[in-house]
Amino acid sequence: MINLAQYAKLAGTYDITTGEMKGAALVRRHLSDLRGSFVDAQAFESALRQSDPLIYSVSSIEPGKGQGDLHYGLGVLMPGKVGAEYYLTKGHLHAWREAAEVYIGLRGTGCILLEEPSTGQSQIVPLGKGSIVYVPGHTAHRSINTGLEPLVYIGVYPASAGHDYGSIAKQNFRKVLIERDGHPLLLDRTEVAGKV
Ligand code: PA5
Ligand code: NI
Repeated sequence: MINLAQYAKLAGTYDITTGEMKGAALVRRHLSDLRGSFVDAQAFESALRQSDPLIYSVSSIEPGKGQGDLHYGLGVLMPGKVGAEYYLTKGHLHAWREAAEVYIGLRGTGCILLEEPSTGQSQIVPLGKGSIVYVPGHTAHRSINTGLEPLVYIGVYPASAGHDYGSIAKQNFRKVLIERDGHPLLLDRTEVAGKV
């Protein structure tokens, strides 16, 4: 039998404009937190010399920690680019690799870059207002804002998923989403490195 009183939070609210979720633990990632994430290291360093803007924030709610519990986070990813590459999240695998996740797009235009690390198989899936994305287990995932307003979404995942940033950071995602002639273009990192 479940004791509802053991749950820290059963209801909440979110603000679609600011991304604020009352009572949530807030993590803010600035440009300086994303060293190594963008393909153009020179463009990154020169942008950072100008300023260190907020790139994204995640507000997380962890109502319970039992087997079968779910956690969720509200992500707000700003619009912008480093060189030709759109603003992005660090990206991660779940520490418990089997754990899947559902992303619900609330505002803006962008996508999720998916990669299965052992095969390198990649896919870009639209994420924005009106779209839902299923991220299977064993899949590295990174959000990318290709629009002109903040990309706001909620991710729901098993309480025991955990975030493993190290594994994907080692070699980074194999694909890079850049803007070319005003449109997003997905290229191999090796193809782009040193050329954007
Ligand atoms: O749990 C998720 O996958 C998301 O809420 C992410 O944490 C969010 O998109 C931020 O990305 P990252 O955790 O890779 O910095
Ligand atoms: Ni995740």
